[in-house]
Amino acid sequence: MSNTAELYPVPPGFAGPTTIGASEYEREYARSVQDPDGFWGDAAKRLDWFKPPTKIRNVSYDLADFRIRWFEDGELNASVNCLDRHLATRGDKTALIWEGDSPDTEALRISYRDLHARVCRLANALRNLGVGKGDRVTIYLPMIVEAAVAMLACARIGAVHCVVFGGFSPNSIADRVSDCGSKLIITADEGLRGGKRVALKANVDAALKLPGTNTVETVLVVRHTGGAVDMQMPRDRWYDAVVDGQPDTCEPERMNAEDPLFILYTSGSTGKPKGVLHTTGGYLLFASYTHEAVFDLRDEDVYWCTADVGWVTGHSYIVYGPLANAATSLIFEGVPNYPDVSRFWNVIDKHQVTIFYTAPTAIRALMREGEAAVKKTSRSSLRLLGSVGEPINPEAWRWYYEVVGDSRCPIVDTWWQTETGGILISPLPGAIATKPGSATLPFFGVQPALVDADGTVLEGAAAGNLVITDSWPGQMRSVYGDHQRFIDTYFKAYPGSYFTGDGCRRDEDGYYWITGRVDDVINVSGHRIGTAELESALVLHAKVAEAAVVGFPHDIKGQGIYAYVTLKSGEEYSEALRTELVAHVRREIGPTASPDHIQWAPGLPKTRSGKIMRRILRKIAENAPDQLGDTSTLADPSVVDSLVKERYIPN
Ligand code: PRX
Repeated sequence: MSNTAELYPVPPGFAGPTTIGASEYEREYARSVQDPDGFWGDAAKRLDWFKPPTKIRNVSYDLADFRIRWFEDGELNASVNCLDRHLATRGDKTALIWEGDSPDTEALRISYRDLHARVCRLANALRNLGVGKGDRVTIYLPMIVEAAVAMLACARIGAVHCVVFGGFSPNSIADRVSDCGSKLIITADEGLRGGKRVALKANVDAALKLPGTNTVETVLVVRHTGGAVDMQMPRDRWYDAVVDGQPDTCEPERMNAEDPLFILYTSGSTGKPKGVLHTTGGYLLFASYTHEAVFDLRDEDVYWCTADVGWVTGHSYIVYGPLANAATSLIFEGVPNYPDVSRFWNVIDKHQVTIFYTAPTAIRALMREGEAAVKKTSRSSLRLLGSVGEPINPEAWRWYYEVVGDSRCPIVDTWWQTETGGILISPLPGAIATKPGSATLPFFGVQPALVDADGTVLEGAAAGNLVITDSWPGQMRSVYGDHQRFIDTYFKAYPGSYFTGDGCRRDEDGYYWITGRVDDVINVSGHRIGTAELESALVLHAKVAEAAVVGFPHDIKGQGIYAYVTLKSGEEYSEALRTELVAHVRREIGPTASPDHIQWAPGLPKTRSGKIMRRILRKIAENAPDQLGDTSTLADPSVVDSLVKERYIPN
C-alpha cells in the first residue's frame, strides 16, 4: 500500500500569521532534541514566573539514579498563569462558555475577570476551611463552570486536586479518596446528562460510609439542579454559602515548579487505578505550548473540547492549556445525542466554534446516524478538527473531514496519555500533511522509538512497541504514594526509555500509526479500564468463582468488554444472573465499565502452572477461533472447544 496515496495536504489559505509552517516545524524539532535546555528554557518564557528557572532539565532514566525534574528552581502559580496575567489586556474576554445539558438552559459566558474573582472567592473559602498547600481535594462535579473554578482555586492555594469522573460509583470515589487522603470534597447536588439526573451528592454520601474515607472533613455542595439532598451538618456545606462574601482577590501560593498540581487516577494492567501525579511548571508549560501549536490557536478562536474534566483531556485541553493561553474554552454539560443527534453541530453554530476536539467513538456513533443531521447545520465557523483517545479508523476520519469539516478543515489526530500530560504525537495543522488514521509526527522535544519484545530498536518502516527515549516537561512524575510502582510500570520493560503500553507502526514517511494497547488495558470509548479491575469487581459477587476479561473490537466504542465468568459450584448459569452481573460491575466501578458480553465459562484455558492464557480468550472474543495458536501447553485443552462453541458472535 502506498502511504502517499491518501495524503491530505495543508489546505491552501489555512495558515494565519502565527501558524507554524513545515520548515519551522523541522527546524524547531531539530533544535528541541539537539539542545533541549536551550529550547525548553526559551519555551518557559511563555509562562509568568515569580522566580524564573535557571535549571531547565534534570533527568535520568537510569534505574540506579532515577529522576525527572524540569525547571526545578523556578517558582510560579498555575492559577496566576491561567487568570491574573490576562486581566490587564483581556479581562473582558470570554474565558469560559458554558452550554448546559438542555439547549433551553441559558448558556453562560464568563469573562477572565469574572473567572478570576470566582476562583479567588473559592480559594479564600478553602483556606478558611483549613485547606492549604499540599492538601488533597477531591472534585466530583458535573461539567459546570464550578469544575474549572474548583481546579484553579486549588492551584491558587497549592492544594492538590484530584478530579473523579462524575460517572464513577461510590466505591470508585472511596478508593480514590482513601488512596490520596482527601481533606475536602467538592460536589454538586446532581448532574444532568441527556436529560437524566445523576445523584452526585448521594454517591459521595455512600462513598464516605466506606472504610478509609475518614480523612474527609468537609463536603462542599454546589446547588445545580436544585434536587433534594441529605445535608449532614457540620460536614456538608453549601458551596454558595461558604463562597458568598469572600474577597474577590486572593494571594496566590508561590509554588516550586516541581510541586504537585494534581493527581488523576487511571487504569493500568494490574491492580487498582494509579494516582498519576503531575507537577506545576513542566505540566502547565507543556499543556499550554501543545494547545497553542497543535490547535494553531488565534486570539479570536472559540475552542471546544468535548471531553469531561474527569479525564486528562479535560484537565489539559479544557482548563489548563486553553486558559493559560487566554483562549475562549467551551464547557459542555451534555451528550452528543440529546435532545437529538445534531446537538454537537447546533452548539458549534450557536457559539460560532472555530476549533472542535472530540473522540473517535462520538464520531462513529454520529456517523451511524447519517449525514442529514450534520448537513442541516452550517458549521461554517469551523476551521480545525481534532481527535483524541483511541485510534481513529480511516472511514470515521474521512467522514469527519468530509461531512463535518466540509473538506475545509485539517484534522489533528492527537496521540497522548494521562501519563504524558499533553499531546506527544500529532500533526501541526499548518505544517504536516495528514493521513487518515495516523497521528503523524512527534511534537517538539518528543523522541518516539519502536522496539521489539527484546528491546531491540527498530529502524525505518517497522511495527513494534512504542517507547519515548527522552523526557518532556509534561511527563508524570510519580504514582501518588508509590514511586516504585511508577518506575516499575514505565521504565523497567525497556531500560532507558519510557514505555507507553501502546503498539505502533511507522511507515516509510516516518509517520506513526498507533495500533492500540499491548497490555491488559481496554480502551472503551476512549476510556481506559484495566482487565484486573473488572475481574476483581466480578469476583466480588457472591456467586462468581473466577473471571477473565479481555477487549474485543466494537464498531462504536473501539473496544468492548468481554468477560468470561466461572460460577461457584452449585450456582446456576442464567440470563437473569448475567443481567445481575452487569449491574454489579456498574455499581462497583461505574457505567463506563459495563461488560458488553458475559460468556459463561465452566472452565478457563490455563497453563499447567495455573496462568490464564488471555491470548486464547482474546481470539475467541474477537470471533477468530481459527487463530488460537498453540493450545498444547494448556492443562486441559478441551475447555477451549467448549468456549469456542459458546462464543458470542456479533450479528
Ligand atoms: O492507547 C492509547 C489511546 O489512549 C491511551 C491513553 O488513554 P488515557 O490515559 O485515558 O488518555 C486518553 C486521552 C489522551 C493511549 O495509551 N490513545 C489516546 N489517543 C490516541 C490513542 N490511540 C490512538 N490514537 C490516538 N490519537
